[in-house]
Amino acid sequence: MSSDPLLQPFHLKHLTLRNRVMITAHEPAYAEEGMPKERYRAYHVERARAGVALTMTAGSALVSRDSPPVFNNILAWKDEVVGWMKQLVDACHDEGAAVMIQLTHLGRRTRWDKDDWLPVVAPSHEREAAHRAFPKRIEDWDIARIIEDYADAAERMQAAGMDGIELEAYGHLLDQFWSPRTNDLDAPWGGHLDDRLRFGFDVLRAIRKRVGDDFIVGLRHVGDEMAAGGISRDEGLEISRRLRDSGLIDFLNVIRGHIDTDAALTDVIPVQGMASAPHLDFAGEIRKATGMPTFHAARIADVATARHAIAAGLLDMVGMTRAHIADPHLMRKVIEGREDDIRPCVGANYCLDRIYQGGMALCLHNAATGRELTMPQVIPAAATKRRITVVGAGPGGLEAARVAAERGHEVTVLEAADQPGGQIRLTARDPRRRVMIGIIDWRMAQCEKRGVRFHFHTLADADTVLATTPDEVIVATGGLPHVEVLEAGNDLVCSAWDILAGDVKPGQDVLIFDDAGDHPALQAADFLSAGGSAVEIVTPDRNFAPEVMTMNLVPYMRRMQGRAVTFTLAWRLLSVTREGNRLRATLGSDYGDARRTRSFDQVVVNHGTRPLDEVYFELKPLSSNLGAVDYEALTDGGIQSLRPNPEGRFRVFRIGDAVAARNTHAAIHDALRLVKDL
Ligand SMILES: Cc1cc2nc3c(=O)[nH]c(=O)nc-3n(C[C@H](O)[C@H](O)[C@H](O)COP(=O)(O)O)c2cc1C
Ligand code: SF4
Repeated sequence: MSSDPLLQPFHLKHLTLRNRVMITAHEPAYAEEGMPKERYRAYHVERARAGVALTMTAGSALVSRDSPPVFNNILAWKDEVVGWMKQLVDACHDEGAAVMIQLTHLGRRTRWDKDDWLPVVAPSHEREAAHRAFPKRIEDWDIARIIEDYADAAERMQAAGMDGIELEAYGHLLDQFWSPRTNDLDAPWGGHLDDRLRFGFDVLRAIRKRVGDDFIVGLRHVGDEMAAGGISRDEGLEISRRLRDSGLIDFLNVIRGHIDTDAALTDVIPVQGMASAPHLDFAGEIRKATGMPTFHAARIADVATARHAIAAGLLDMVGMTRAHIADPHLMRKVIEGREDDIRPCVGANYCLDRIYQGGMALCLHNAATGRELTMPQVIPAAATKRRITVVGAGPGGLEAARVAAERGHEVTVLEAADQPGGQIRLTARDPRRRVMIGIIDWRMAQCEKRGVRFHFHTLADADTVLATTPDEVIVATGGLPHVEVLEAGNDLVCSAWDILAGDVKPGQDVLIFDDAGDHPALQAADFLSAGGSAVEIVTPDRNFAPEVMTMNLVPYMRRMQGRAVTFTLAWRLLSVTREGNRLRATLGSDYGDARRTRSFDQVVVNHGTRPLDEVYFELKPLSSNLGAVDYEALTDGGIQSLRPNPEGRFRVFRIGDAVAARNTHAAIHDALRLVKDL
C-alpha cells in the first residue's frame, strides 16, 4: 500500500473514502430544467472514474421554491430530482467514489424576479450587495415551512442513495440567522447566540428525524466572517464546538470570510495572483478545537499543498475543486505517480466567473470539461497516422499540436517568435498573472513527451509549410491588435499590447480607449498607474471592462482604486490630433451628438485583434478542402470530409484568433474539437 498521505483511506462514520481528496460543492450550471441529467452525470462520473474519493455534487441545491436558482442550481425541492440523482449516484458508486450533495436555502442571496417571483426572505431587510434583492423579513410561518423543506430535501437525497448531505452555511439563510450583520430579529430567532443558532439547529433536528442517525450529515460553515460586526473567530469556534456537541452532524467543511460582495467572495475563493491555501491553517485550528472530521477547500491547487494539508493533520479531506475542473484525472495521475502530467489550474477563474454571468462552468484551458459527452479527456489514438503541421505556438496552436500528438500523428509546429505562448506570454508578464504561463508550459511538456518537432524563429509562408509535406495544416497564427478605429489620428495612438510588451514608453497622462472591454485595457492601466501615470479609461459601454468578469475584476480594482485611475463610461474616442507636445482627444457618444475634448500625452486603444491570416489565404487555394469546415461534423464529433478540390494534397484549417478575435478558451476549444477527429 502506498505511503502517500493523500492515498490513505478515511473512515467517516460507516463510510470508507478511498483517499483524502474530494471535490467540494460547486454548481457548474449544467442542470437541465433544474435536474442533473446526462451532462451533469458525465461530468461527475469522469472524476469518479479517475479516482477522487468523494464528489460533493451540486452546489447550493435548493430546498425551497422561494430560494430560486442564481446559477441554474438543482431544484432539490422537486420529487423528480430523486430519479436523476439516483442515476448519478449509482454511476459514481460503480467507479468507487462516494457521492454527497450540498443543500441550501439561499435566503437573501438570490433574486425575486426569477422562477415563481416569490419574495426573497432573510432575517432582516438588509440587502446583499451581490444579488441586490431587498428581502422580506422572515416570518414564523416561513421558518416552519423552510425547516420542513430542508428535511424533505434531505429525505429525497437519502432516497437517491446518496452517501450523505452537506448544508451550506456561509452567506446563505442558515448563517444569515447566525450573523449579527444579517439578523435583526428578536428572540427566539435573533439576539443572543443561542437564539441566532436556533433556526440552524431546528433544521438539523428536523433532518435527523427524517433521515435517522446513520445517514451522513455535514455542514459547510463559516468559522470567521472577517467582517466588522459579523461572526468573529471566537464566535465561529464556539459555533463549531456547539455543532460538535449537538451530535447532529458528522463533519465540518470550513470556510473563512464572507461572500456578500464580489471582493469578499474572492478572498474566500482566491483567484490567480492571490495566496495559495490562505485559510488552510484556520481550518486546521477548527479541526484541532473540535476534533471533528474536517474538510476544506480554497486554492489548494497543487498536490504538494494538498499532501501537506493531510500530512500536517490540518484536514481529514482536502478539497481540490477547480484543480479537478482543470484536470479531472488528477487523482489517477497521483495514483500512477504521474504528477508532472497534471494539467494545472492556473486560477483564471473563468469557470466560476462564467456562472455568475449566467453561463456554464468551463475551464479556460480544458475545453473538454463540462463537455464530457462529446469531448474526450483522454485523446484516443487515430486509426491512420498523418503528418500534421501547426502554424503558431500560442495556446490554440499548442493544443492542436498536443491533441494531434496524442492521436499518434507526426506533428511539426512552426512559430515566428523565439518562444511559445503568443498572447499568454504577454499576459504572464504581469507578476500577478505569471501563473498563466502554466497553460503553455503544460502543453509544451506534453508535446515534447510525444516527440512534436518545434521550429521557432520561423515565419511560415506557404513554401515553409509545404516543405513539411503535411496531410493537414492547422493555422493558429492568432491576431494583431487593431487600433485603426478613429476618424483621425490613428497614427498617434498605440495599442494596449504595445504598453504591456514594453514596446512603447509609458506616458504620464494617458487616455485608454477600451472598446473591447477585455483584460488588456485593465492590465495596461494597472501597469501604467503602478508606474505613476494618471490614467483615464474611456469606454463606449455602460459598464467598464464588460468582458472581465466579476471575480477577475477584483484584483485590478484593489490595485487601481488607490491610484490615479478614473473611468469614463458611455463615451467613445472619435479622433486624436497633435497639440504641441500633447494630444487632443475628441470624445463622442453613441447616445447622441454630445462632444468633449481632452488633453493627454498618450492615447492607448484596446479594440481586440485582427486575424494574422496571410499564410492561411496562401494555402487555401492549394488545399483539398479550400479551407472549408463541415460545421455539422465539427459540432457533432464527426469526421471532416469536405474536399471540394480533390487536386489538393493537404487540408487547411484555421483556429482561434486567426479566424476572429475571441479568447483563450475559444482557441483551445477550436483546436480540441477539430483535431480530436483528424
Ligand atoms: C463553478 C463553481 C461553482 C461553485 N459553487 C459553489 C456552491 O454552490 N456552493 C459552495 O459551497 N461552493 C461553491 N463553489 C466553491 C467551491 O466549493 C470551492 O470552495 C472553491 O472553488 C475553492 O476551492 P478550489 O480552490 O479547490 O477550487 C463553487 C466553485 C466553482 C468553481
Ligand atoms: S478556469 Fe481557471 S480557475 Fe477554473 S479550473 Fe480552469 S484554470 Fe482553474
